[in-house]
This record gives sequence, C-alpha cells and structure tokens, in this order.
Amino acid sequence: MPILITGGAGYIGSHTCVELLNAGYEIIVLDNFSNSKPEALNRVKEITGRDFQFYEGDLTDRNSVEDVFSRNRIEAVIHFGGLKAVGESVLFPLQYYQNNLVGTLVLCDVMNRYGVKNLVFSSSASVYGMTNEVPIREDSILSVTSPYGRTKLMIEEVLKDLHTADDTWSIALLRYFNPIGAHQSGLIGEDPTGVPNNLMPYITQVAAGKLEKLQVYGNDYPTADGTGVRDYIHVVDLAQGHIKALEKVMSSSGVEAFNLGTGTGYSVLEIISAFEKVSGKKIRYQITERRPGDIAISYADPTKAKTELHWSAQRGIEEMCRDSWRWQEKG
Ligand code: NAD
Ligand code: UD1
Repeated sequence: MPILITGGAGYIGSHTCVELLNAGYEIIVLDNFSNSKPEALNRVKEITGRDFQFYEGDLTDRNSVEDVFSRNRIEAVIHFGGLKAVGESVLFPLQYYQNNLVGTLVLCDVMNRYGVKNLVFSSSASVYGMTNEVPIREDSILSVTSPYGRTKLMIEEVLKDLHTADDTWSIALLRYFNPIGAHQSGLIGEDPTGVPNNLMPYITQVAAGKLEKLQVYGNDYPTADGTGVRDYIHVVDLAQGHIKALEKVMSSSGVEAFNLGTGTGYSVLEIISAFEKVSGKKIRYQITERRPGDIAISYADPTKAKTELHWSAQRGIEEMCRDSWRWQEKG
C-alpha cells in the first residue's frame, strides 16, 4: 500500500521521496507547488529510476484531499505540506494559520474517515522558542516566537488531542533542527525564492557571485567566537530519519516527538570556514547587528531518535557544505 507524501515536491519532501523509493516504498505525492516546481518530481524519478503517482492539489481543499484517498488505499502519510518562512509569517499570520492549520485539519479529518491513522509530521525546533538550555531534549519547555512556530506547536497539540481521543492513531512529531545540503547528484536541493533568509543558501549565493556579501548577524553572543551556533543537519540524513519514523508509526501506536539533529553545534564563522575549504571560494562577510528573535545557541540532544528510531545523522559539516555548493553550481 502506498505512502502519501504531502509537500513531496519541496526541499525536504523531494529528498524523502528519493529515500522512500530507494527503500522500495510505493509513494503518492500531493503538492500545490506554492513553493516548489513539478521539475523536482521529475528529478526524483531520474535519481531513483522509479515512477510514482502525483496529484496537484491544495491541502486546504477537502475535495483535492478526498480525491487522493478515494482513489488509493493509503497506508500512512508523511506531512511536509506547509508554509515555512518565519518573517513572512509575521507579516501574513492569517495565511500561515489558514494554510498550515486548516491544511492539517482537513488532512487528518480525511485520514480519519478513510481509517488511515499513521502519520509522520514535520514539526520544527522552533517549538523550543528562546530556550537557553542545550542540548535541547524533547521534554524541554515549549514556547514560540512567531506565527510560523505557533502553527507547528498548535498542530502538535491537535495531534496529541487526536491520539487522546482515539489511541489507534500513531503519530511521530519530527522536530528538525537546521537542514542544509542537497542530494549528492546535484539534481535536487533547496531553491529559495528571492533573497534567502537562511544562512547556507545565502552563503552559496555569495560564493556564486549572485549576492555581494554575507551579513553575519552579531558577534557578541556568549559563544566561542561570538556568532550564533546551530545544529546543521544534512537533508539526506533528515530524509532517512523519516523512513525510520515511518517504520515506527506503522508498527506501533502513540504520539511521540523526536529531535532530528546531529547533536553538534557550529557557529556562523565555522560554517563560513568549512564552506570556503570545500568550495575553494572566499566568502565576503561583514559583522552586523543581531537579527531580532535569534538565539545564541541551539543544538539537539538526538538520543531519543537514536534509541527509539534507531537513527542518527551520518554526514559531517564538510559534506553538507560540499553538497550545498554542488547544487548551487548546477542550478
Ligand atoms: P518547502 O517549502 O520546500 O516544501 C513544502 C512543500 O509543501 C512545497 O512543495 C509546497 O509547495 C507544499 N505546500 C505548501 N502548502 C501546501 C498546501 N496547502 N497544499 C499542498 N502543498 C502545499 O519546505 P521544506 O523545507 O521542504 O519543509 C517541509 C516541512 O518541514 C514544512 O512543513 C516546514 O515547515 C518543515 N520544516 C522545515 C525546516 C527547514 O529549515 N527547511 C525546518 C523545520 C521544519
Ligand atoms: C531559522 C528559523 C527557524 C527555522 C530554521 C530552519 C528564524 C528566526 N528562525 O532558524 O524557525 O526552524 O531557520 O532552518 O528565521 N545568519 C547570519 N546571516 C544570515 C543568515 C543567518 O549570520 O544572512 C545566522 C543566524 O543569526 C543564525 C545562523 O546564521 O545564527 C543560522 O540562521 P538560519 O539559517 O536563518 O537559521 P535559524 O535562525 O536557526
């Protein structure tokens, strides 16, 4: 029976489709291309040599979602479909609540009606808010600082309530740290529209000469070199984490949160220097003010994923930088 991948044409979704197909799963993708292109799905087919069904549709449109479930006997859902830009969510909160919350409510309602109760959900380390305690464990206090983060936290709560009401649901809440990198083929990767907000796409565009220089947001944080520290994780490791979470939800019931991170933090200056080393490019940068809302240090305690999902990240920072750069050069 197939696995439904919502948002499967996106950055993390497309990499997860590759891993699922390589592992022998049958998949169906549902995406509205609000932040992706159909070409990504052709690339997934090219990488894997396997075909799959695809539906263009919006999760907030019940008929589109029903259409997929009425035509297929779905075994489980991996739910990536959602909007993810923090700054944009502050400017357009209703759009974020509508898309992320309503999309998830419609999806879960249709799943319920068709008796499909296995779900892997894309949550985010942003549910840990401004927490200062590192490494961050799943039982840390949750708080959020943006409408985007709030949609993730609210959806986590909705899914917990769903399981309380019906314990045959089996749900994994995957809290991603900072995904970077791309498939080693250079055929799929992150393709941000406009000027990137996140560090790695900004660095690769400076290296490619598309942007003049990087602004390093603050060098007065209480870290070794004063710049912010994050837990960067290779997107292929992240994708493989989804296979393990899928196996878990299909073989047990419950609702559990898992950190998907490496457990190691790198500063902005360390990332610049690792990138320069593998690409041979000099990254021009200037130190500027702190970015409002940023925290000093964030990295995961990934122990729970290791013991319960039998998953841990394998790829190091140089591989992450090399694959990000290969994708930028080919794109
Ligand atoms: P992405 O934007 O590349 O992929 C999301 C996909 O969902 C896109 O293809 C988009 O077109 C689709 N989509 C959005 N709304 C939809 C809707 N209403 N109906 C159907 N399709 C819809 O983002 P990504 O980086 O691959 O992230 C995937 C998920 O992981 C998102 O839910 C995101 O919030 C979460 N996440 C991402 C990061 C990150 O840094 N990339 C970190 C933490 C959590
Ligand atoms: C951001 C989101 C977070 C999301 C995560 C996903 C914000 C406030 N938070 O986190 O919700 O889950 O992406 O990957 O947007 N930096 C620079 N210059 C830049 C860009 C970033 O110095 O041009 C620094 C930041 O200050 C930070 C680090 O690089 O210390 C990483 O930033 P970024 O890639 O934006 O990720 P987060 O802020 O961790």
